[in-house]
Amino acid sequence: MDMQIEYVETAGLGAENFEALSVPAIPDYLQETYYWAYLNPRNVKLLDREWVVKTILWQQHNRLTRAATTEIEAGQNVMQAACVYGNFSSVLAEHIGSEGRLQIFDVAEIQVTNCRRKLAEYEHASVAQQDVMHLRHQTFDVVCCYFLMHELPDEYKRKAASTLLDKVRPGGKLVFVDYHKPHWAHPLKLITSIVFDTLEPYAKGLCRKQIATIAGNDERFEWRKGTYFGGLFQKVVATRKV
Ligand SMILES: C[S@@+](CC[C@H](N)C(=O)[O-])C[C@H]1O[C@@H](n2cnc3c(N)ncnc32)[C@H](O)[C@@H]1O
Repeated sequence: MDMQIEYVETAGLGAENFEALSVPAIPDYLQETYYWAYLNPRNVKLLDREWVVKTILWQQHNRLTRAATTEIEAGQNVMQAACVYGNFSSVLAEHIGSEGRLQIFDVAEIQVTNCRRKLAEYEHASVAQQDVMHLRHQTFDVVCCYFLMHELPDEYKRKAASTLLDKVRPGGKLVFVDYHKPHWAHPLKLITSIVFDTLEPYAKGLCRKQIATIAGNDERFEWRKGTYFGGLFQKVVATRKV
């Protein structure tokens, strides 16, 4: 198989910090299940709008963004696993500030290009084309995994969780924000279930299990969890023991 090589900025500004990486393959689940949402150029333009994100997240987007940023301090070295639609990454870059650093990794070139455009004004933010299951040896103060887990088949959920845990420095955190099993009487339970069955076939796998369990209850970390909006969303924070 031919390998394409591209130069991706991985650490800083100078050429000495550019590292040759092979262009990652698009995982099957992304190509087969989510082509329409993340790889189709027309839909990327259509879906990457604040009102679309707010609608999909039942107007909870700002609250969930705050839930993530509250775990992060200005000046920290932060990784975001995968691009997301809307203004999440700009808010994160703003929150971290120019004394800090935000590195985003996404496996899809179209998402990397789109996200670079959105973050152009933030010199302390960079976006690289990488599969988060195959990240290099580097650790971060905070790793942020915002609405990625529910889109991964179960075996990839495990792999992503353990890979991302390894990217957290001692004393640092891995922050997951994602869907969660709602309260049994939640008025949106049925519609959410239908949406999951139709468009998000791996989401129920996340709702059935605790993220800490998926991550093998890694004992290097302290785990805490909170839920939002009648249990439809969750934040799980794994803090690495020093
Ligand atoms: C974070 S998730 C979904 C976020 C949320 N639903 C939204 O509104 O954008 C979508 C992104 O994950 C990326 N992605 C999926 N699997 C990945 C992997 N293994 N490594 C890196 N990026 C991945 C896709 O390319 C896509 O850009």
